[in-house]
Amino acid sequence: MFPDITKLRKDFPILDQSVNGKPLIYLDNAATSQRPLQVIDRMNEFSLKINGNIHRATHFLANKTTEAFECARGTLRTFLNASESSEVIFTHGTTESINLVAHSFGEAFINAGDEVVVSEMEHHANIVPWQIICNRKGATLKVLRFTDQGVLDLAELDQLLTHKTKILAVTQVSNTLGTVNPIQKIITKAHEKNIPVLIDGAQGAAHFRIDVQELDCDFYALSGHKMYGPTGIGVLYGKRKWLDRMPPFLSGGEMIDRVTFGNTTFNEIPYKFEAGTPHYTGAIGLAAAIEYLNNQDISILEKYEHELLAEATMRLKQIDGLTIYGEAPEKSGVISFNIEGIHPFDLGTLLDQLGIAVRTGRLCADPVMDHYGVENMVRASFAFYNTFKEIETFYKALIRLKTMF
Ligand code: ALA
Repeated sequence: MFPDITKLRKDFPILDQSVNGKPLIYLDNAATSQRPLQVIDRMNEFSLKINGNIHRATHFLANKTTEAFECARGTLRTFLNASESSEVIFTHGTTESINLVAHSFGEAFINAGDEVVVSEMEHHANIVPWQIICNRKGATLKVLRFTDQGVLDLAELDQLLTHKTKILAVTQVSNTLGTVNPIQKIITKAHEKNIPVLIDGAQGAAHFRIDVQELDCDFYALSGHKMYGPTGIGVLYGKRKWLDRMPPFLSGGEMIDRVTFGNTTFNEIPYKFEAGTPHYTGAIGLAAAIEYLNNQDISILEKYEHELLAEATMRLKQIDGLTIYGEAPEKSGVISFNIEGIHPFDLGTLLDQLGIAVRTGRLCADPVMDHYGVENMVRASFAFYNTFKEIETFYKALIRLKTMF
């Protein structure tokens, strides 16, 4: 049974508009998803009635804000099933979360001669921070390759993980190939060798039920704006046993215990990693997005998104000269492709003229472009508010544009 999409779409008024004279078809959800009224209203109401800086004052507005912020942390803890709220750190998003771990875990645990393993299908945000810390410490970055189908080679992983490996960082879902990686298996393999694992959940958290205790991952990073929440807010989940031993990342107010000119002692987690005034309005909005998701049957939405992907894949495969990059058996709602003879930027611009929003370019994944020997791709990515009719219109638009060239 499918969810009532017409009803759900009413929660997302932004979708009900025309772009270039055509009804908007928003297929760029992997870049950022749209926000339901429930999130927008919660944030507006907060700004209209409550705003005060958290953890810093005794007045009414500050107390109310602190309460709402910590309550949002609790919502995230439950969503992730972290064993305690202190393991949930608010950041600006997945990029900052991974930078925090690369910098801080790297500072404490990575040394000359050590190795860090990432996969070939990572977003730049899960490559570059590791490259920087490896260069700084004299460590080596090792890469787990994927097959042309877009599947990680787990047999190669066994070879890559050695006594030199200090951490494995891998994405749950590829933002380019759509591959859903077998993270449970990967984590188990790494833990057999006592290697901690960071999961980039930027493309996963909106679509799957997450249980960090069941997964037993050491770190999990997510972004609010890719899961129907606001921009500028994200989360790093980390096991206390690591976070307690990691030095601060950013420093300033709130992350300290006591400051003198001679020495500074640091606050406990999570505050040790939340320097400065956090984006508490965003945290409250993210909690509202999670409550919104909690009110849906996520497994039905997941099935529906899967059907959308299957339909789009089937349609696109009918187009001569169209190549899809990544056809893993386990895929999330992402299709990256090119059409022979049409530059991806032209295709993106012309689709926009027809009201259809897709992403074009290198998709923050240069190594994936290099794998397939292409400069750019076009990417369509789906959310539960997309419809089969939109996919049909998208398909017809591609046929029409192909004929024009
Ligand atoms: N990371 C976002 C994407 O994949 C921006 O499009």
